[in-house]
Amino acid sequence: MKENEIAKRVDFLREELNKLNHTYYVLNTPTVSDYEFDMKLNELIKLEEENPELKDVNSPTVRVGSDIVKEFNQVEHINPMYSLSNTYSIAEIEDFEKRIHKSIEENVEYVCELKFDGTAISLIYEDGKLVRAVTRGDGVKGDNVTANVKTIRAIPLQIYDPLGQGTFEVRGEIIMPHSSFQRLNAEREEGGEMPFANPRNAAAGTLKTQDSTIVAHRGLDFFAYNIISNDFNTDNHFDSLRLIKSFGFKVSDDAKLYDNIGDIEKFINKWDKKRKDLTYDTDGIVIKINSYDVQEQLGFTAKAPRWAVAYKFKAERVSTELLSVDFQVGRTGAITPVANLAPVRLAGTVVKRASLHNAEQIALLDIRVDDIVYVEKGGEIIPKIVGVDVSKRGIFSAPFEFIKNCPDCGTIIIKPEGEAKQFCPNTSGCPTQIVGRIIHFVSRKALNID
Ligand code: IVH
Repeated sequence: MKENEIAKRVDFLREELNKLNHTYYVLNTPTVSDYEFDMKLNELIKLEEENPELKDVNSPTVRVGSDIVKEFNQVEHINPMYSLSNTYSIAEIEDFEKRIHKSIEENVEYVCELKFDGTAISLIYEDGKLVRAVTRGDGVKGDNVTANVKTIRAIPLQIYDPLGQGTFEVRGEIIMPHSSFQRLNAEREEGGEMPFANPRNAAAGTLKTQDSTIVAHRGLDFFAYNIISNDFNTDNHFDSLRLIKSFGFKVSDDAKLYDNIGDIEKFINKWDKKRKDLTYDTDGIVIKINSYDVQEQLGFTAKAPRWAVAYKFKAERVSTELLSVDFQVGRTGAITPVANLAPVRLAGTVVKRASLHNAEQIALLDIRVDDIVYVEKGGEIIPKIVGVDVSKRGIFSAPFEFIKNCPDCGTIIIKPEGEAKQFCPNTSGCPTQIVGRIIHFVSRKALNID
C-alpha cells in the first residue's frame, strides 16, 4: 500500500471501529460479530505499529490500555464539581419545591433522573476529541485518569456529529454493572484478594488502577448527565440530555420531564421497586430544575446547587432470628464475629450470615443471641445487622458475651489501643493465622503462585 493509502485505511478503520463501538456499547445493538470487530482492530493495531507516524492518542486501539501510570496528576477542574443535597422522604422533596417557589413565581419544570451509583467523572473534549478525564476529587481538583477512561467503550474518544466539534465538558457517572462486578469479585476471591464491597467501590478502585490494560478488562460502563460549553447551548437540561445523546454518549432513557410534584412522587415510587430489575446499582433519584435560566436565578450554596436535589432510596431491610455467633480469625489475628441467621430473602438473595463487625458494635446495638434482628443490604455484598426488635426479646435473654480466647489456638485475646477489633496475639503459633499468611503470600497480589 502507498503511504497515502495507508493513512486513508487507518482513518477508515478508526471511524469504522468508533462507530461499531457506539452501536455495541452505547446502543446495545451489535451490528457485526466480535470476530469481525477484532479483525478490524488487529489490522489497525498492525498498521499503527508499522507506521508510527500515524499514531493517534485517540485511536480506538487505546481502548485495550496502554502504559503504566505511577501517579495520577492532580488537575484543577475548569468548572467546580458540586455535590447534591440528599433527601430521604417525599416530605423533604415537597420542602425543596416550596423553597424554590419562595423566589420563583412562574411554573417550574423538573427533570427526574436515576442517581447512578458509581463515581463521577469530568470529560474534556477539544475539537470533538477526548483530551482529558478527571475524577471529582475534592470538587476543585481531581486526578487525571485519562488513559484509564479511554478504555471504557461507552465513552466516545471522538465526536462525529458536526455540532460536537468544539470545546466542551461532559459529566457523568462511571459505573460497574452487576455482571462485571460479580465476575471481578469471583476472580479476586479465587486469587486470594479481598473482594470489593460494592460496585461503587469497584468502579472507583478500578479508575485508580495504575495499569490501564487491567481497567480495559473490568467492564466499566458510563452514563452521561450533563454538558457544559461556551460553543453551543440549549436553554434547558432536558434538551441538553438529547444533545449529549446525539454526540454518541450513553444517556439513560429513563430521564423524564415533569411539571408537578405528584408526578415526581410517582417516578420515585416506581423506581424504588423497578431499580431491583436494573443491571447496575442506583441509590436514588436526582431531581433537577429544567430551565437554565431558573437554575441561574437559584444558584449554589457552598457545596450544592439550589436547583437540584437527590432522593436517596432506603436500603432494603428485613427482620430475622439471630441463631448463633461464630468467630473468625484472620491472617492478621483480627477476630471478626459473624452472625448465623434464620435464612431470609433480601434484595434477591437468601441471607444466612451477616457481619457483626466487632465487640463495640455488638454492645452498641445490644445484639443478643435469639434476638429478632433487622438486616440491611445497602450496596454491600455482605449484609449488616442494623438493629434489634427489642419488643420480641424473651425474658431469659442475656447480654452477649464476647469470647475471651482465640477460637482456634485458645490464646487469651487482646484489644490493642486505638483498634476497634480484638486480636489473637499468638502470631507465630496460631494455625489459622499461619495458613492465612501463607495463602496471602502466594496469592496473585503477592508472589502469584498457582
Ligand atoms: S447531577 C451539581 N445527576 O451523585 C451536581 N449526579 O451526590 C450535579 N450522580 O457527584 C450532579 N447520578 O457523581 C447528577 N443523574 C445524576 C447522577 C449524579 C449520579 C452522582 C454524581 C454526584 C453525586 C452527588
